[in-house]
Amino acid sequence: MAKVTYIEHSGTEHVVDVPDGLSVMEGALRYTVPGIDGDCGGACACATCHVYVENGWMEKLPPMNDLERDMLDFAFDVKENSRLSCQIKVSPALDGLIVRTPARQY
Ligand code: FES
Repeated sequence: MAKVTYIEHSGTEHVVDVPDGLSVMEGALRYTVPGIDGDCGGACACATCHVYVENGWMEKLPPMNDLERDMLDFAFDVKENSRLSCQIKVSPALDGLIVRTPARQY
């Protein structure tokens, strides 16, 4: 279990206890956090789970693989701290993680 804070583009915060083994995307969908669509169900094939990772957390996440890197090219307004949240599995090590959602997906 990890407490994950999702911050919408508008600034609205959602603090959610996400069970271990779910992805950050699945945590958002399960608790109806807006701003993350997850259209492909986590197959790394849609880029609608794009998030910005808060300062200090990027290096604590599992590294990005080539598939995620390629798919991120299709996301809206990609930045240095962009990740696809379906590729981030929740574990106790991610307790306190903060992610922000972009202005829109696509
Ligand atoms: Fe489709 Fe993440 S849910 S790429």
